[in-house]
Amino acid sequence: MTFSPLKEKGMPLEKQMRNWHQIVGKPYNKTDVDCYTRTRQILMNGIEVEAWGFKHQLARFLTDNDDKIKLSQIGRIENTQQMTCNWMGPADQSVLDTTLAYEQVAVDLTAWLAQNEPDKYIKEVFDFGLLEDFDHLYRYAQFAYAREGTEPSDIVQGQTDVITGRPTQFHHNCNGLRKRKHYDKNSASPQTKVNILTVLSGEQQTHNFYAEHGFMYGDHVLRETYAEIKDVEEEHVTMYESLIDPNESMWEKLLIHEFTEVCNYYTCMEDEVDERIKKTWELFLDMELGHLQTASELFKKYEKRDPEEVVGSDIIIPCRFVSQKDYVQKVLEKEVNKRLAPDGEFYKTTEEIPDDWASYPVQERTAEISAPSENAVRIGGIYHDRDIAEAKESLLNKQTEILSKGMQKKAVAWNTVDADELGEMIEKHKSREKEKEKLI
Ligand SMILES: [Fe+2]
Ligand SMILES: [Fe+2]
Ligand SMILES: [Fe+2]
Ligand SMILES: [Fe+2]
Repeated sequence: MTFSPLKEKGMPLEKQMRNWHQIVGKPYNKTDVDCYTRTRQILMNGIEVEAWGFKHQLARFLTDNDDKIKLSQIGRIENTQQMTCNWMGPADQSVLDTTLAYEQVAVDLTAWLAQNEPDKYIKEVFDFGLLEDFDHLYRYAQFAYAREGTEPSDIVQGQTDVITGRPTQFHHNCNGLRKRKHYDKNSASPQTKVNILTVLSGEQQTHNFYAEHGFMYGDHVLRETYAEIKDVEEEHVTMYESLIDPNESMWEKLLIHEFTEVCNYYTCMEDEVDERIKKTWELFLDMELGHLQTASELFKKYEKRDPEEVVGSDIIIPCRFVSQKDYVQKVLEKEVNKRLAPDGEFYKTTEEIPDDWASYPVQERTAEISAPSENAVRIGGIYHDRDIAEAKESLLNKQTEILSKGMQKKAVAWNTVDADELGEMIEKHKSREKEKEKLI
């Protein structure tokens, strides 16, 4: 049976105010929670932050007093929903724990989107971003083990592999190259519009989380690594937002925002395994259907068009959180050496990059002292003989080959752990493990 969001009335706006007890709720238990309940919670926080922020931007351009008030009413509700979502996270979940979960969101969400994106060009952009967040997860995993004794599986629960991706030091690009070609608002499918706004909201919130929490550790190398990866998330926001047609009006964008919220809560409600949290997703879906009604009225008033022209008539599934290991491995082995080219194109291999590539000076400047994300792997070596990595044996055995393929000819930081050095670390670890067996 299909679900048609525009035909649903949802909860009237005047009934959406809740008391503090309802707004704040009870956190989940960090050791019992299903990793995909946590990823849903993190993603929906990001969606709400975007929904809230967009309304404030729109209000600053708005002259009609009644519409301004209507918009602020919805914005206030988004604010309460954001609190409920974000504060489901418990106080004893450390910043690094949450960081691993944020990168798990990015990997498994982007992999889902890439496989469900009708536009081939946009799919390629998703595949490209995927390998960067995949590498962030690996770099942060080194610190989570060294500082807090946390194994990646404690957070990702074996659903997402943790090994090297496209090395983070090579994610820093010239802004002109990050800019991609935008879709055409008149021909793009609603799925494409929802997919992009979903991942954009997630990336923006990841950036904000690192901005607000990266300083909370005393370890200077870790602080620098947060700074380095935060800069990449800034690039991801730039990259994904450049895919959106800038010719959409603010009212069209408001409609897409509310529709995206509806689609995401609908998916959360369908997939949730925690019965208590599922009730929140059901309630928020009902609220968002009310927001969508108001956004549709405003769209019709200002644009004199049918909202169906923009968002279609059926619900869209932006993301089902499920393990994406096979898909990610396929992209990793094939595209770890891919790089950004001008005019929204891609260089298929690092060999194709010209000597005057615009991103080389950016990478040389940012890593002129050292690349923090490379020191992360060195720290893994100190605490554990080798890097922290989790994947099936056959993929782990390809790790040095993948790292070698991901390298560049130029702008390689002096402190880089290259494939040879990583291979030596892995061998050292193996021989130490054998020694340990003898003593037992
Ligand atoms: Fe919302
Ligand atoms: Fe990331
Ligand atoms: Fe990202
Ligand atoms: Fe909303």
